Amino acid sequence: MRPPNMRIAVRKESDAGERRVSIVPESIKRLAAKKIDVSIEAGAGAGAFASDDEYRSSGARIDASLDALLTDADAVVQIRAPHIEDVKHLKEGSALVSLLFPLVNHDLVRALAARNITSIAVDMIPRTTVAQMMDVLSSQATAAGYEAVLMAAAALPRFFPMLMTAAGTIAPARVLILGAGVAGLQAIGTARRLGAVVEAFDVRKVVKEQVESLGAKFVEVETEDAATAGGYARELSEESKKKQAEALARHVAKADVVLCTALVPGRRAPVLVTAEMVASMRAGSVIVDLAAEQQGNCALTQPGKTVVEHGVTIIGATDLTSRMCAHASQMYSRNMEKLLFYITKDGALKLDFKDEIVAGSVVTHAGEIVHSKVKEAMSPGSSGAPGATSPATATGAV
Ligand code: NAI
Repeated sequence: MRPPNMRIAVRKESDAGERRVSIVPESIKRLAAKKIDVSIEAGAGAGAFASDDEYRSSGARIDASLDALLTDADAVVQIRAPHIEDVKHLKEGSALVSLLFPLVNHDLVRALAARNITSIAVDMIPRTTVAQMMDVLSSQATAAGYEAVLMAAAALPRFFPMLMTAAGTIAPARVLILGAGVAGLQAIGTARRLGAVVEAFDVRKVVKEQVESLGAKFVEVETEDAATAGGYARELSEESKKKQAEALARHVAKADVVLCTALVPGRRAPVLVTAEMVASMRAGSVIVDLAAEQQGNCALTQPGKTVVEHGVTIIGATDLTSRMCAHASQMYSRNMEKLLFYITKDGALKLDFKDEIVAGSVVTHAGEIVHSKVKEAMSPGSSGAPGATSPATATGAV
């Protein structure tokens, strides 16, 4: 007899205000072709404008109750990490694919291991060329970087482009982007397309060329290069931080818009824009802080809120990807297709723990915590500080 296909369950995201969905209708047929059937919790795609009817006509099963959804699911696929109390609803021995941030979410990891769940943390997938198509941190940061610029443009009482009109010439907006990772580079491109004059700064010197290729000016600061082998940044020395602050103060004062995207894995986001720098900006200027969920790059950011300080609008939005729900969901869903194709064979999960992607992302399996870095971070003597190659917690960009 032909073995049954694998069945994945798509839950309605439970976090307040989250509109994305992990699998969109266009993925259903491609998954079915690889022996992966999909069940959808009724209404799961509504926030992202994907109706139950669309899912149904693409071949998915719609389940009205959570029980029906989870009873015969081999794997649950979602975006945000589950709440601990949700773990008991997962079928014992099944798999979970979602953001997990296991280096800091230790209680969740313990609960998943105790429930014998094979948990795959998509935030831990190595940032390698092979894994690029599964890289949700990049796809979601792309959506966040774009949306952040549009929010800034909408809040700024000035034009972005230079205009030559009968009423005279309008100078272009000056945009300063702090952090030129995935979100920052997307923000540069978007701000340039809107016609702004863009400057960007990063502590990884390697990004200078990428910044310039997008038509922005790289702000040079004489500090050590903070790039690590994993591609992420590490925290700067105190002396470099001082030099950076002195140099940035001049650029912040001249900017109409500052977009903050700087993150250091496992640490609070670095404070790059002080209250004094905000006070030096022209009234009406705008700061969008994508690092808000990790306390922000601006000292005056309030996560989840928009505040006005010294006449400057400071947007601490933590729902940038959710605002881009249609495309952010589509990109996440395509990432999931590639990941599921990679870790399944003939309609069943097939994990090769010698594989870099599997070893890098599977956190719990067969009742054990199997991820070496997570184990290390959770060991009694550890400070809990994560290794230098993975982000620690959810950010506005995820
Ligand atoms: P991230 O979200 O961790 O950080 C954003 C940016 O903030 C980084 O560019 C970082 O250098 C910068 N930053 C940190 N501290 C700073 C400070 N004090 N001042 C200014 N900037 C600061 O990074 P993201 O966007 O997730 O990218 C991480 C790395 O992963 C990058 O090296 C990127 O090239 C690499 N990557 C590789 C991929 C691949 O090869 N498949 C795909 C995507 C990313």
